[in-house]
Amino acid sequence: MRQKLVAGNWKMNGSKASIKELLDGIKKGIGDVVSAEVAVCPPFVYLADVEAQLTGTPVVWGAQNLSTEEKGAFTGEVAASMLNDFGCKYVIVGHSERRSLYGEDDALVATKFRVARAAGLKPILCIGESLDEREKSITNEVVARQIGAVIDLEGVSALTDGVIAYEPVWAIGTGKTATPEQAQEVHQFIRQRIAEKDASVAEKVQILYGGSMNAANASDLLAQSDIDGGLIGGASLKAEDFLTICRAAG
Ligand code: PGA
Repeated sequence: MRQKLVAGNWKMNGSKASIKELLDGIKKGIGDVVSAEVAVCPPFVYLADVEAQLTGTPVVWGAQNLSTEEKGAFTGEVAASMLNDFGCKYVIVGHSERRSLYGEDDALVATKFRVARAAGLKPILCIGESLDEREKSITNEVVARQIGAVIDLEGVSALTDGVIAYEPVWAIGTGKTATPEQAQEVHQFIRQRIAEKDASVAEKVQILYGGSMNAANASDLLAQSDIDGGLIGGASLKAEDFLTICRAAG
């Protein structure tokens, strides 16, 4: 039985004050979340605040990106060792916003997965098709290619050191969620694709759904047999909505 994970991707949102309020709310309600793991991914500059406020609670945290470099003259970049320094468990790699707005390709994302893994961080590998790709019926090819880049670099068993997040790009921040059936179909394809290489890895690896998951639709999505949690953007910024999703995960 795979544990469920609900991770909040705060993106470029928040202030010291709003984050304190949000974390206070999450801490108050976290006792009602029975078995799911709960994580939050703040912007880099708030990691110290988040570490201070969440240490000793069941809530874990991570970053939204990392550098492929270890250290040195890379202005504006943040290294894996620095994320470890602030107690991060997770780091998101290959989010569609990084792929589309900052030109991150499959090879770079796979390298980020490698660097995170080597540092003992758990990469949350985001994959998913654009609207155009879905309309062309090449969703499966796209997600297979995106995962394949990591498998080719690191080997299939590396996938269990991280988490996969299937996030159809057309569902991110649009309020247009994949139906539970649409999401399950792709999750099942991803798992089956991994099983062709290694059945026990496929059985173990957590595959989260992301893309306009909210308090109203979470339980139907999370009830699907291959959906092991959620990567939540907008709805992770309100404690009550986020907690409702976490409770729906168990
Ligand atoms: P959303 O974002 O929940 O706001 O659609 C999800 C994500 O980008 O991870």
